[in-house]
Amino acid sequence: MPHKVTLIPGDGIGPEVAVAAMRAIDATGVDIAWERVELTADIIAAHHEELPAHVVESIRRTRVGLKGPVTTPVAGGYTSVNVALRKRLDLFANVRPVRQLSGLRTRYSDVVIDMVIFRENTEDLYAGLEHEVVTDVVTSLKVITRTASTRISRHAFEYARKMKRRRVTAVHKANIMKLGDGLFLRCAREVARGFPEIEYKELIVDNTAMQMVMRPEQFDLLLMPNLYGDIISDLAAGLVGGLGIVPGANVGDEYAVFEAVHGSAPDIAGKGIANPTAIMMSGAMMLDHLGEIDAAGRLRSAIERVYQGGSHLTGDVGGTASTAEFTDAVVRHLS
Ligand code: NAI
Repeated sequence: MPHKVTLIPGDGIGPEVAVAAMRAIDATGVDIAWERVELTADIIAAHHEELPAHVVESIRRTRVGLKGPVTTPVAGGYTSVNVALRKRLDLFANVRPVRQLSGLRTRYSDVVIDMVIFRENTEDLYAGLEHEVVTDVVTSLKVITRTASTRISRHAFEYARKMKRRRVTAVHKANIMKLGDGLFLRCAREVARGFPEIEYKELIVDNTAMQMVMRPEQFDLLLMPNLYGDIISDLAAGLVGGLGIVPGANVGDEYAVFEAVHGSAPDIAGKGIANPTAIMMSGAMMLDHLGEIDAAGRLRSAIERVYQGGSHLTGDVGGTASTAEFTDAVVRHLS
């Protein structure tokens, strides 16, 4: 029986990198029945709804998705379809492993960066509850609940135990947001007590940003509310070669959708030069999730070997290859 997977190419560079990832995953030999559904800024505008039903129905059927980015209009227009999807399917944990690729030289090549970011995915300022009280006065509600904070904390600690991680650092701004971030921290502390073998630390988010640039090797697993997770993820991606590299998973109790950290990159869309590494690595996380551990390992090492070879890399990491040339090289290593 093939694994059923919903493929959402998205828009911008999404279709270019998603097709590349599909080729690489198929080249591992794992039998996947792809159910392709289109979700783009234009489709959302035409449907007049934040999340067209056909997308949700497909993932409810297959339970697993591989997704490219979808553009969200800035300062107006419809709400983010990405946020809507995470909320609708209750994909409460956003998991983003950040590590160097052997063969890719960066400013940080002299240290070992190997961290995993656990970002709460359903609330915080991303609840989208904004209100213009009177003209020119807007409030944005930051929602933090015990339920969501506890389950992301538990998910992070369980992952740490399973993957033999040493330390969980909760990132916060509870010195200012004493109630909201204070509740997040209380939940993290309560969960930490059940995992005595794992060191638990807390760090204020501004200090985290500075520490990450100065000494990124100190971080192991990072646990944080939604907004800090979004920003710190991009910062962390910058340490290991940029947004073209870092994968991610949106995970809930019933469904999982795998996608890169990056967005639709309108500045390079349609040029065939986007780096598909991040979504391919997201595909490797998906193969792990499907129980195809061996294939996931082979896909990761095929990608690493292309980086070690150095001659088929895309422009964002210093090469001149197209998306297709990079993908061909990965597929060659798999076959
Ligand atoms: P972005 O991540 O799309 O791009 C930031 C920079 O990184 C750009 O210079 C881009 O060319 C580069 N970049 C990103 N991915 C790359 C790749 N695979 N290969 C080579 N270079 C890459 O962030 P931006 O410009 O802030 O957002 C663009 C749109 O994407 C917005 O509408 C935003 O809302 C949306 N977005 C969607 C996400 C999703 O669907 N999950 C996540 C983040 C942003």
